[in-house]
Amino acid sequence: MLNGNLKVAVQKKGRLTDKSLQLLRSCGLDIEEYSERLIVTARNYELDILFLRDDDIPEYVQDGVADIGIVGYDVVKERNAEIEVLRHLGFGKCRLMMAIPEEQDIESVENLQGKRIATSFPAIVKEYLNANKIEAKVIEISGSVEIAPSLGVADLICDLVSTGNTLKLNKLKKTFTVFESDAVLIGNKNLNLDESKWKLLASLLTRIDSVLKARNSKYLMMNVPKENLDEIKNVLPSLKSPTIVPLADESMLAVHAVIPTDTFWQINEKLKSAGASGILLLAIENMIL
Ligand code: PRP
Ligand code: ZN
Repeated sequence: MLNGNLKVAVQKKGRLTDKSLQLLRSCGLDIEEYSERLIVTARNYELDILFLRDDDIPEYVQDGVADIGIVGYDVVKERNAEIEVLRHLGFGKCRLMMAIPEEQDIESVENLQGKRIATSFPAIVKEYLNANKIEAKVIEISGSVEIAPSLGVADLICDLVSTGNTLKLNKLKKTFTVFESDAVLIGNKNLNLDESKWKLLASLLTRIDSVLKARNSKYLMMNVPKENLDEIKNVLPSLKSPTIVPLADESMLAVHAVIPTDTFWQINEKLKSAGASGILLLAIENMIL
């Protein structure tokens, strides 16, 4: 594999695998269906995808085995590798939480004093305990942490919670949040020393940025009475001025604008009370700025 391809590490099997591949595909990369292979080469870009255990990704990127990687910020923090966080990717949001058996209760962080806590994130947990001046026993377990309390190995666990299903299945409930995480793109610190790889990365980053931007934006279309145009313009959050199109009915105009997705429900009512009708909100595939 000593070709000059840009090497990107992706979680082999887990919460982030599908969404990581989806992001790369949205960037226009033609990637073969992943089927238990360790390395897949994109058909239309000088890029190899290495499928690795997520916990190992920061070290592999640090050591230059992979040039970049997509991994949870939780793992980055825990591993404390010499890497650079290039982008937060907006997916894979989850929380590292203390969780206790359902029938128990815990009132404050002080109640953790003297307890045994099973986790795959010993460094983050120890830091949290220190910050809260708690002495507790941290038991490092590399997988299936959630069964530790029922085996009697620990009193509680500290693990990632996304939907909460894993906890529920194991009759555990969440308590304190220790750390909030999402997926990040990380890079080797020396990557810019290799000019050809740097070019491949720079162009990939441009594509990633335009995909992320498009995911956070929607294309809004509506018809408005001509006389209310100013009122409508005031409601719209778009930085650039909207596109205004005349309609057959001369008292009406069509207004098109790109808006941040999360603002739509805040402005929807205001648009309607300003006389907007036929409001359409469309997904944008790509946004080149
Ligand atoms: C995490 C965590 C739980 C699961 C929680 O595993 O260890 O098993 O996600 O998700 P839920 O709240 O939606 O049930 P992860 O995907 O990071 O895999 P890994 O433990 O193999 O790294
Ligand atoms: Zn993991």
